[in-house]
Amino acid sequence: MSQQDQYVLGYRTEEQKRLQQQAAQLAPESSWLFDQVGSLEGCRVVEIGCGPHGCLDELSRRVGKSGSVTGVERSSDAVMLARQMIASQGLHNVEVREVDARSTGLPRGGFDFVTARLVLVNIPRPHEVVMEAVALARPGGLVAFHEADWISHFCDPPSEAWTSIVDLFVDYSARNGIDPFIGRKVPRLLREAGVTDVQINPIVHIYPPGHERRSILLDFAENLTQRVVSDGMIQADELGEIKTRLAQDLADPRRLVVSHLFFQVWGRKPS
Ligand SMILES: C[S@@+](CC[C@H](N)C(=O)[O-])C[C@H]1O[C@@H](n2cnc3c(N)ncnc32)[C@H](O)[C@@H]1O
Repeated sequence: MSQQDQYVLGYRTEEQKRLQQQAAQLAPESSWLFDQVGSLEGCRVVEIGCGPHGCLDELSRRVGKSGSVTGVERSSDAVMLARQMIASQGLHNVEVREVDARSTGLPRGGFDFVTARLVLVNIPRPHEVVMEAVALARPGGLVAFHEADWISHFCDPPSEAWTSIVDLFVDYSARNGIDPFIGRKVPRLLREAGVTDVQINPIVHIYPPGHERRSILLDFAENLTQRVVSDGMIQADELGEIKTRLAQDLADPRRLVVSHLFFQVWGRKPS
């Protein structure tokens, strides 16, 4: 994969498992977002960057027998896992295509609802994905994004290891044209793409001891390790020590861990 096409979280097997768990963790919030756009019964829907699970099952239920859901995903492993999930749950109205979200080849104006979750924050040239999403929606159709912004992801008391990993992540992202602070810009990107009636819901969590997402920064560090070391950004031993210290710091039950700031943003393509 070329540097220009870099996707920051990478494609380790462990990351696919994390995404499958994340789909369950985020399902209630996505469900809330889909409630806001109204009934999807009978609709043609696209989920961009669906990963191994995404919201495909929830969207399948919402569109019902007369609707259809098309997942778009670039990773062949994720596509395979998503298709297994579809088969095991008998989701007859869902298909997944292995294509790039920036040029899906799907019919322009062919869909009632286009959505994506946690894709823009991890890739270069996110505006191209927004443009494609809007192009896929029919006039009068809806688009909805659920994105992250690293602004609020911190711990207290501060941890040197935490700060080192965040700095490494932000530095790696900048080198690869990825914007970890894209969340706040999504409303603007939608308006610039011509979307109207833009609405915004911010979400922030704390991750107390035992919470499944308390160690998300450590998971991201594992995803990034091989690439930051081979790019010469840090020595493997040094990063190993930082990760060990971060795990120790996260194990301290008195440490407060705050999530990314998430933005759910939705609106309508003019008729
Ligand atoms: C953080 S994961 C989120 C997965 C899913 N949306 C969810 O929230 O559970 C981002 C997904 O976007 C996919 N992706 C990244 N760049 C892409 C591109 N250019 N085209 C299609 N999918 C892409 C990745 O392969 C990954 O599966």
